[in-house]
Amino acid sequence: MSKYIVNGGKKLHGKVVVEKSKNAILPIMAASLLVQGKTTITNVPNFSDITAMAKIIESLGAKITFASGNLTIDATTLSDADITCEEAGKIRASVFLMGPVISRMHRCKISKPGGCAIGARPIDIHLSGFEALGVCVQETQNEVLCVLDCFSGGEITLRMASVGATENLIMCSVLGNKTTILHGVAKEPEIVDLCKFLIGAGANIVGEGTDTITIVGVSKLKPTTFTPIADRIVAGTYMLAVALCGGRVQICDINAGHNQRLIDLLARFGCKISCKSDRIYMSSSGFLQANCNIVTGPYPEFATDLQSQIMAVLAGADGVCTITENMFESRFKHVAEFNKMGANIVVHKNTATIFGNSQCYHGQNVKCHDLRGGAGLVISALAAKGTTIIDQIDYIGRGYENFEQKLDSLGADIHRIEDEEEKHNWY
Ligand code: UD1
Repeated sequence: MSKYIVNGGKKLHGKVVVEKSKNAILPIMAASLLVQGKTTITNVPNFSDITAMAKIIESLGAKITFASGNLTIDATTLSDADITCEEAGKIRASVFLMGPVISRMHRCKISKPGGCAIGARPIDIHLSGFEALGVCVQETQNEVLCVLDCFSGGEITLRMASVGATENLIMCSVLGNKTTILHGVAKEPEIVDLCKFLIGAGANIVGEGTDTITIVGVSKLKPTTFTPIADRIVAGTYMLAVALCGGRVQICDINAGHNQRLIDLLARFGCKISCKSDRIYMSSSGFLQANCNIVTGPYPEFATDLQSQIMAVLAGADGVCTITENMFESRFKHVAEFNKMGANIVVHKNTATIFGNSQCYHGQNVKCHDLRGGAGLVISALAAKGTTIIDQIDYIGRGYENFEQKLDSLGADIHRIEDEEEKHNWY
C-alpha cells in the first residue's frame, strides 16, 4: 500500500477548505434509488468509499456520471436487487442500499457484512426494523434476503440510536403511502441532511434531528439537485492537527456548530478559537494542558470518528486524560502505533488512559489500521521530532480528499509514496 513520509515539527498556517461529508453523501447516493429519474449531488469529493458505492449502484442498473464534482445518478430503471457485487463486500455503506432497494424492487439480497477493523458491526436493528415495516427477512449464514409483499408502515422503537439503521428505515418508509414513526433514532447532522435531500425530492418527513422521526409515505419522488453538508470529522481532524502542531489556521466551508463538543474541549486545552457560521479561526501554541475524561457516544456526544485524532492530541499534551470508547469495541488499534512513537497510553477494556507529555513524539515506522486511526497517526507524525513513515495510508483515502496536499498548503512536510496498483480512479 502507499505510504506517507512526514517530517514533523512544522507549525500550520493558512486556510483549508473542508470537503463535503462522506457520511452524508453515501446515504444520499443510496436514497437516489428512490427517485425514478435523475439525482445530482454537487461538490462530491473523490473518496474511494464513494467510488465503490457508485459501482454498487451501477451494478443495480442505475446510470452514473461524475464530472467536475457533480455526481449524477439516474435511477429511472433498476434491473437488479442483489447487492452482491465485489465492491459491496468492501464498504459497510452498502447496507444503506437495503432500504431503498426493498422499497423500489420489493426484494433485496445482500451478502452479510462481516465485522471490520473497528468492530463486529451487526445489522440486527436494520433487519428488525424492516420486519416491523412488513418485510419478510430470511437470514442464511452468508446472506440476507428481504421480500416485501405489502409495506405496512408502523411505529418502531430502535434498540439503540444506530445511524445506519435510522437512515435505512427512513429510506424504506418514504414511498408507500403509509405512516411510519421511528422512536429512539440517531440525531447526527448527516441524518438531518439525508432528510433534507428527501424532503427536497418530495418526501414528507418531520422530526429529523430529534428522538422521533415521522414519515408519511408519498407515491413518488421527483428529480432533484442537492449539495451535502461539510464533513465535520474532516474539519475536526484539521482542528486537532493545528491544536497539536501549533499555528494559526482558518477552517472554511463548514458548519461550526457540528463540532461544538470539540471546540469547547480545545478551548479548555488552551487553543484560541472563534467561530463564524461557516468557518472557524483557530490558533494554538502547540503546548496544551489537558485533563479530561472523554466518552464517545451518539451525536451530540463526542464523535467516535474523532476518537483516535483527539487521542493523538492528548498524548502530546501535558496532563492525564481518559477516553472511553462506547461505540465500537475494536477502536483502539492506533494505541500501539502512538506508543511506538513515544506516547504513554494504557488500555483497560474500553477505556484508554493517556499520560500526556508535550515532548513525547518521535519519528517511527507505523501503520494505519483503519481510516480515522490513520488520520490520528498523521496528526502525531506532524508534531513528532524527526521523520515518521506511515504505511497502509490507503485507508485514509476512504474519507479525506487531497489530505497531504491540504496539509502541505498549511506548511506541513508530508509526502506520499504511491503504490500504483492501489490507486483509485473515477471511470
Ligand atoms: C455510522 C458512520 C460511522 C460512525 C458511526 C457512529 C456512516 C457511513 N458511518 O456508522 O462513521 O462511526 O455511524 O457514529 O455514516 N449496532 C448494532 N446493530 C445494528 C446497528 C448498529 O448493534 O443493527 C451498533 C454498532 O455495532 C455500533 C453502534 O450500534 O456499536 C453504532 O453503530 P451505527 O450508528 O449503526 O454506525 P454506522 O451507521 O455503521
